[in-house]
Parts: sequence; structure tokens; C-alpha cells
Amino acid sequence: MINGKNIILAVTGSIAAYKATYIIRDLIKLGASVKVIMTDASCGFITPLTLSTLSKNPVLIDFVKKGNTGEWNNHVELGLWADAFLVAPATANTLAKMVTGHADSFMLATYLSAKCPTFIAPAMDLDMYKHGSTKDNLQKLLDRNSHIIYPESGELASGLEGEGRLAEPENIVSFLSKYFRESQPLTGKKILITAGPTHEPIDPVRFIGNHSSGKMGFALAKKAINLGADVTLVAGPVALQTPKGVTRIDIQTAKDLLEVCKLEAEKHDVIIAAAAVADYTPKEVSSTKVKKKADDWNIELVKTHDVLKWMGDHKKEAQLLVGFALETNNEVENANKKLVKKNLDFIVLNSLQNKGAGFKHDTNQITILTKENKKIDFELKAKDEVALDILMQIVELERVK
Ligand code: CTP
Repeated sequence: MINGKNIILAVTGSIAAYKATYIIRDLIKLGASVKVIMTDASCGFITPLTLSTLSKNPVLIDFVKKGNTGEWNNHVELGLWADAFLVAPATANTLAKMVTGHADSFMLATYLSAKCPTFIAPAMDLDMYKHGSTKDNLQKLLDRNSHIIYPESGELASGLEGEGRLAEPENIVSFLSKYFRESQPLTGKKILITAGPTHEPIDPVRFIGNHSSGKMGFALAKKAINLGADVTLVAGPVALQTPKGVTRIDIQTAKDLLEVCKLEAEKHDVIIAAAAVADYTPKEVSSTKVKKKADDWNIELVKTHDVLKWMGDHKKEAQLLVGFALETNNEVENANKKLVKKNLDFIVLNSLQNKGAGFKHDTNQITILTKENKKIDFELKAKDEVALDILMQIVELERVK
């Protein structure tokens, strides 16, 4: 969930400032971009060099850049860049200034400029933490929709035991992960995606296949995870890595795909059939390699089951079903026929007449046709962006449901 997120980590003047190193390391490991702001006081506890090395970005401390060059650090731009503003550790002094709206440091000015959610992990001695002023300040920050990552109990720098220790870095990072997971538009939705070609065996060394690379289905799976969904990806034989967080089931043939979908379909809220399924399969499969003999070789083929049609016929109430149509002529008419026949909510049409669309490319150009007879044309885009367009159509349908 943190992958690709922009996070500002504001470090203030507490002995717990050293724990910022672990927070940065964990965020970066999970794929976030991290920019660190330090207050002057925090620089006495840990060096900016350490935090800039770990975060792979310059650490920001003052409004004006060092060296009297007249350049300044833009707190407004930085605030708008961020998906989350995390203050860890947050001292009692910083909490008070965040409440009153002081802007006498670069950190506080950025806090006031940021429009993203704020996460505050306080750290202080137990009596400071228990003090009514601190409690009141935390309550006011909560009332303004800040998220408080409460301190933990244990030995404090003063030698006393009690509440006030900065939450452990892994708990801070999992708090953020949980937040992002729960605030996504497809959170709680289970999505089944089919992808790639099928291979229909002729004998142990030969098969009938097609040019599908699986890229579109895999891009959909990756984006759906980023939007908070639980994703099961049923993949034909492709050379692609499973996106992080996706449950993958590998299949070879149209028959395998049908068996898996019969088991999985009813467990899912949304089904996207992006697989290029063979329509015919050899009637007989030789158990040994067929040797070269006559000049001609006729292979008898039989029709496979239409997996998507089966899912359309067994569609649950409130389930969304999305299909693909790859067409070379009479595109809209043919795709609309499939939409109706397979009982789909919408169909994604690829025309092979459009350059850069369809198999193998990293790009695709689609038209979405809905069961309400809407036709939405999109430009040629990277498959990742196309995936987002398709998923946003699903988000919209889920919203009006
Ligand atoms: N599909 C499927 N099972 C099949 C064939 C197709 O589930 N045996 C699905 C595909 O995953 C796609 C949609 O049906 O989402 C349309 O596939 P396409 O190959 O374009 O159409 P077909 O129905 O096979 O018709 P035709 O090949 O005649 O165009």
C-alpha cells in the first residue's frame, strides 16, 4: 500500500530522533519516496547527512538554502507533493505549535501548507505526556483529523518507566500501510482477473497458442492492488512477474481456466476477463511426439468452453463482469454482441486496426462499451494507464450501485 507514495517525515528534537533511520529504511523498502524535514533541535540528536543518505533526498531544515545563494526551499510545493505528512518523533513543543498554527520553522510552515493526511507519533517523558496541556493538544489535533500513533510504554531516556516512548518504527509504518489500504477506492473488493494466452496441447512438445503477452491483465492486477483490492490473477503461460500482493493461479489450457474460474468466480465481487482464450483445442492429444510422415497433417479441433459466458450465466447479484474484445472489423458491433451474449457490465474493445493496440505492445488503445449503451473512447496510452481507466470505470459502477 505504501508503494509509490510520497511521504514527508518531519523529525523533531527528541532522543527518539535516531529511530527515524528505521522508519525511513522501512518506508523506502516498501517503495515510498521519502523527503525528510528536520527541526534545528533534532539536528543535535542525529545528523542530516544520515537521514539524507537513507532517504536518498536532501534533508530540508531552513526556509533559505545554505550558502547565501538567494534560493529557498518551497514549503508549499513540498506540502502538495506529499501523500502523507508524518511527524516522528513529535515533541510536546511541536504538538503545541501545530495546534496554535505557529510557522516559525520550515517544518511547521510545510505542515500548514500540506493538504494530505497528517500522522503524529509523539515521544516525550511520561509526565510531559500525561500533562493536561499535551492531552488537550493531542485532542485538538485529533479533532482536526490528524492521526495519532500513540506512544508505547517502557523505559524512557530519563530513566523513568512509563508511557511516552516513540511507537516502534515497524508499528508506525504498519499504521501508515493500514491507513492507505483502508482509504483506497477498491478497499474490501475482491477482484478476479484472467490474463495471458492459453496453450492447447497437440503432443508433449507442441501446442496451439496465440500472441497474448499477458501485459494488460498483469497491469490490471498491479493497479487493482494499488487501489486497495484483493486480487486473484489466473494466468496463462507468460513470462511476467507476479505483482506484489497478488494471489496467482497458473493455468495452461482453456479447460484449466474454466475449472479455476468455476471455483473462484463466486468468491469475487468483480471479474475482469483479459485472457486470450483459445476457441478451439485439439480433439486428441498424443502422449508421444508426433513424428513427421506425410506432407499434410490435419489436426481435428473441437470448440472450447466460453469461460466468460459461463461466468455471465452464473453471475451473482451485484457482481460486476468485464470482458475484452479483440476485433479487426465491425469492431463496435461485434463487441456489443459479446457484451449482451456474455451478460457483461462493460466490454473493453481493442481494435487491431489501431497502431500500438492489442497484443505484445506496452501500449493499448481502448473503447469501453457499457450495457447502458455508453461508448467511451480513450487515447493510446501505456498499459498501466489503460488499466487505471478500466478500474476507475469499475470504481464508478461500484459507487452508484
Ligand atoms: N473468452 C473466454 N473463453 C473463451 C473465449 C473468450 O472467457 N473460450 C473471453 C475473453 O477472455 C474475452 C472475451 O471472452 O474477455 C472475448 O474474447 P474474444 O476472443 O474477443 O471473443 P470470442 O467470444 O472468443 O469470439 P471470437 O473469437 O469469435 O471473436
